[in-house]
Amino acid sequence: MLPAQNQTEPGRVPGHIAIIMDGNGRWAKRRMLPRAAGHRRGAEAVRKAVMGCVSQGVKFLTLYAFSSENWKRPPEEVDDLMGLLRLYIRQELQELDENGVRVRFIGDRSRLSDDIRRLIEEAEIKTGANAKLTLIIALNYGSHAEIVRAARDIARDVKAGLVDPDDITEDLFSQRLYTEEIPDPDLVIRTSGEKRLSNFLLWQSAYAELIFLDVLWPDFDESSLAGAIQEYQARERRFGART
Ligand code: IPE
Ligand code: IPE
Ligand code: MG
Repeated sequence: MLPAQNQTEPGRVPGHIAIIMDGNGRWAKRRMLPRAAGHRRGAEAVRKAVMGCVSQGVKFLTLYAFSSENWKRPPEEVDDLMGLLRLYIRQELQELDENGVRVRFIGDRSRLSDDIRRLIEEAEIKTGANAKLTLIIALNYGSHAEIVRAARDIARDVKAGLVDPDDITEDLFSQRLYTEEIPDPDLVIRTSGEKRLSNFLLWQSAYAELIFLDVLWPDFDESSLAGAIQEYQARERRFGART
């Protein structure tokens, strides 16, 4: 049972929440700790976000774990982030599975190390039949690359005579994205106070509500999630129509 201030109005809980988990570095800097310490605490906040979504009845949660641009960081930091991901999957997979969480990964897998690729495949297979929450981890993900990849994929089919250009609809295009089968996010949250999307779910967020929280990601918890859901519930979504 959640404390009263964490309770949200049932029935209007967003079906899909996507989070840009930002601010680990600043969290560490404020404490004069190495950035790696911020990333470690960030991994603990992931646990809270996932369990919060399970208890609030959110059906899809997408977490931006590593962008296609994050390779520009120093190699030690990239190693730290990949190491934490490894650890997270190894440590949490059993519990995620027991809680009915289906794990999926989106992004370009070709640049990941073999062992990480194996781990994520294993996680997807092991949890594939779960239905309480789908946890989508965006890893080496970037929207521009995703959209170009979809266009290339469709162009190949056109060239092979499998698709007529007149049949290229929004639906067909959506089905060539990493997020095929995943509904568009209703709510996109970014922590740390930065107000940008940083190449995250650009196509899919066309009508998402955006919430920018001042909290740094390692400080994100169940009540931050509940607060964002409450703010979402107070918004009016029009999708271009009028009320
Ligand atoms: C988010 O925290 C983690 C990733 C981008 C992987 P940052 O490392 O970007 O933290 P800041 O933005 O430097 O505070
Ligand atoms: C976005 O955060 C990527 C992830 C959270 C994985 P960044 O910290 O990399 O974004 P910018 O560089 O501030 O736009
Ligand atoms: Mg950042």
